[in-house]
Amino acid sequence: MLRRLHPEQPESFAFTAANQQWATAQITKYPDGRQASAVIPLLWRAQEQEGWLSRPAIESVADMLGMAYIRVLEVASFYFMFQLQPVGTVAHIQVCGTTSCMICGAEDLIAVCKEKIAAKPHELSGDGKLSWEEVECLGSCTNAPMAQIGKDYYEDLTADSFGKIIDDLAAGKVPTPGPQNGRYAAEPLSGLTSLTDHEAGRPQYNASVELAEDLGDTVKRIDGTEFPILTPWLGKDGKAAATKAAPKPPKAPAPAKPAVKQAEEAKKAQIKEDQPETLTIARDGKADDLKMLKGVGPKLEQTLNELGFFHFDQIAAWTQEQVAWVDARLKFKGRIERDGWIEQAAQLATGEETEFAKRAKEDGTYKD
Ligand code: FES
Repeated sequence: MLRRLHPEQPESFAFTAANQQWATAQITKYPDGRQASAVIPLLWRAQEQEGWLSRPAIESVADMLGMAYIRVLEVASFYFMFQLQPVGTVAHIQVCGTTSCMICGAEDLIAVCKEKIAAKPHELSGDGKLSWEEVECLGSCTNAPMAQIGKDYYEDLTADSFGKIIDDLAAGKVPTPGPQNGRYAAEPLSGLTSLTDHEAGRPQYNASVELAEDLGDTVKRIDGTEFPILTPWLGKDGKAAATKAAPKPPKAPAPAKPAVKQAEEAKKAQIKEDQPETLTIARDGKADDLKMLKGVGPKLEQTLNELGFFHFDQIAAWTQEQVAWVDARLKFKGRIERDGWIEQAAQLATGEETEFAKRAKEDGTYKD
């Protein structure tokens, strides 16, 4: 299927504060120079936030990871978990149309989508709540035909049961996922032939359905506030801890992290902004290649140039107050400190190469 950027695009994209914090933490999972490994989680979170992946969202993720835009677009357009056009506000339904599902009735399910949602895939329903598409095998062939809706699989579907699920979703209900024909999981339709003694006393639902039921609303998109950000490898200053596991504290209650955080935030808030000296054009008309700084992509370089920064020595000279000034004018706060721009710029200004610049030149990613 042809997967292209939607012809209508929003002006811009920015993660919410909670999602930004989450995304920044995800990036720290990977060693220096391997931040691109975070591309799928970041794209996924951007999609969860907006419902679909716009070009500005793809470019923002690329900027955050120091990747060329085309590389991120390649990922977004390859996987059909990523939606490149607006989807229904309540749910986007993915009906499997591959062999097992096809011979077990996927065409009937698609007919239901056409009747109840929209005549064509990727079209929004009249009320904008639902959209649908046919996808390739989702790995649930034993329970064919099936569809993925939100985070769950709805299996062993018939036109009737599927139609009811769609009606429920449109009415604001969250149907129970899993097999819709009374099967527990993927056992034979005629019932268990082995391990029958496990049948009695088992929970009402299989583990996937049970989790969905416990969560209560698996159609709802993640907004960044549901789960704690699990980055135990980060020190209090937000940087990777120098030593491995710190010894566990004795029984005493854990120190109040929020207080430490608050103190750090208060300290940051006290730093007054101070505008650094800027230039209107590059000296001798020859700007440094700021993309040699880790974390600076073409778009960010353009922003820096527009702000009046063209040379490594300008960046190397920023004071803490001046960093605050620049930071306030970038889309993603904190990246100057996080990526160590000043240290890198100081090195590059003397003609020395940083590890990152060397790699960037080698793979040609940032060649002008
Ligand atoms: S063929 Fe539909 S899930 Fe595999």
